[in-house]
Amino acid sequence: MSNQFAGKTAVISGGAGGIGFALAEEFGQLGMNIVIADIDQTQLAQAQQKLQDANISVLACPLDVTQVEQWQDTVTAAEAKFGNIHMLVNNAGVGGIPGTINDTKLETWQWVMDVNVMGVVNGTQTVGPSIKRHGQGGWIINVASMAGMMGIAHSGAYAASKAAVVSMSESWAAELKPHNIAVSALCPAFVKTRIHESLRNLQPAYQSIKEQGDKSMSTDGGANHAKALVESGIPTSVLAKRVVEALQSGQTYIFTHPNFRAPVGYRGVLLDNAFADAENSPVVGHLKDDEIVML
Ligand SMILES: NC(=O)c1ccc[n+]([C@@H]2O[C@H](COP(=O)([O-])OP(=O)(O)OC[C@H]3O[C@@H](n4cnc5c(N)ncnc54)[C@H](O)[C@@H]3O)[C@@H](O)[C@H]2O)c1
Repeated sequence: MSNQFAGKTAVISGGAGGIGFALAEEFGQLGMNIVIADIDQTQLAQAQQKLQDANISVLACPLDVTQVEQWQDTVTAAEAKFGNIHMLVNNAGVGGIPGTINDTKLETWQWVMDVNVMGVVNGTQTVGPSIKRHGQGGWIINVASMAGMMGIAHSGAYAASKAAVVSMSESWAAELKPHNIAVSALCPAFVKTRIHESLRNLQPAYQSIKEQGDKSMSTDGGANHAKALVESGIPTSVLAKRVVEALQSGQTYIFTHPNFRAPVGYRGVLLDNAFADAENSPVVGHLKDDEIVML
């Protein structure tokens, strides 16, 4: 099999289910060695079996993305089995608990930020150096969301975490370009997965928020609406094919739902209006033509 992925190795967090598993199947079918790393060990074993049955070279590693040592163990095991690592998919994430500003407890913010933001930081800090070291270049795909491109009422913590992933991806794309490592932010809208059941993976450290999540489910505090939206989403297999297509055309933002162009584009209009307003300002307008110096 000859394509730019064949014979290379991908590490996929949250690779036992949903989007992560579909990417494992897709890249595996393109001839990559696949490392699936996931907090759900039962699903991990089933996913490993399915990939093996499809003749894909696979390694399964238990991983909670919030735990740096588990990332280090994953890298050690991946390199021992397959040699160099070329791709990291920071996919593991949780949907949080839909709720108003005041209903969203500090513990919920902590859980969402630890998994969705620090999980991506931990993955990139541990796997990134391995991709850099061999000098052949590679890919880092950070799974953000359309929610990272536009705020969403009653999902402040989730949207903020995904905006952080978009921003980190932009920063890292500039930093890693000289190393021939392409960093992209995958921003899907709704995809048919179990993201609305994220509380199933709640770590013991965050158990205090379980009650709030169960309440949101039983009283329709937004959780049932989220479920309906996710179930109306595109199949994971379609998303996976789109990711491969977009990587081949070198996209920094990978969009899977062109119908979101208008609302996200409207944000662009608002930004442009805000710049025009600043240009016309007697207070700061004189800065308009100043040279921009970046790091
Ligand atoms: N489904 C959607 O509509 C949608 C839309 C935009 C973005 N996303 C993002 O896609 C990514 C994948 O989600 P999904 O939709 O496939 O959901 P999912 O719940 O079906 O799959 C998530 C996978 O991550 C694993 N996981 C959860 N917490 C983990 C942790 N702490 N450490 C390691 N593994 C963990 C789960 O066991 C599961 O296998 C997430 O980052 C999510 O925010 C999903």
